[in-house]
This record gives sequence, C-alpha cells and structure tokens, in this order.
Amino acid sequence: MSAQAEAPEACTQDLLAGRAGNGRPDPGATVCSCFAIGINQIAAAIAEPGGASVDAVGKRLGAGTNCGSCRAEIQAIISANLAGEPEPLTRAG
Ligand code: FES
Repeated sequence: MSAQAEAPEACTQDLLAGRAGNGRPDPGATVCSCFAIGINQIAAAIAEPGGASVDAVGKRLGAGTNCGSCRAEIQAIISANLAGEPEPLTRAG
C-alpha cells in the first residue's frame, strides 16, 4: 500500500496539459514570475475602473511590486489595451 495520495484523473490531465482545470480561470501566460500573475489576470485588472496603470495593477495583484522586471511588460499590455489592440497571448522573446 502506497503512502502517497493520488490526484483525481481530471486533475492529473489538467496538470499535464499545463492549463487551468474546469471552473478555474486561466491566468494566461505568466507575466510576473515573482507573484505568478498571468496576462489574463492583468487584462482583467486593467479593465476595472482605475486599473489602467502599472501601479494600479500592482495594488490589485502585486504584479510589478517586487523585482520590477515585469513592469515594462505590464505597461505594454496597458498601452495595447488602451489602443484597442487585442492583448498579446504570448510573450515575445
Ligand atoms: S517579475 Fe514581476 S515583480 Fe518580479
């Protein structure tokens, strides 16, 4: 008898697929690795009233408030959003 707990089959498949499971929002590609914040979470924060600034995103999600290396990318997402462009789904580079 194994002492390890087994994950439910659906959970295992979600893990192997590398995406959120049913009923859980997909955070999208990671933008802020310090806080594991994805592009979809940032896009949602930007859409909130008063959310269209790097500092506002930081206050809501924490993104950009530690090492700061993601702040330029957050600003680019905000700029693309304000220009009416669809949010980039993947990071360049
Ligand atoms: S990667 Fe976002 S604060 Fe460090």
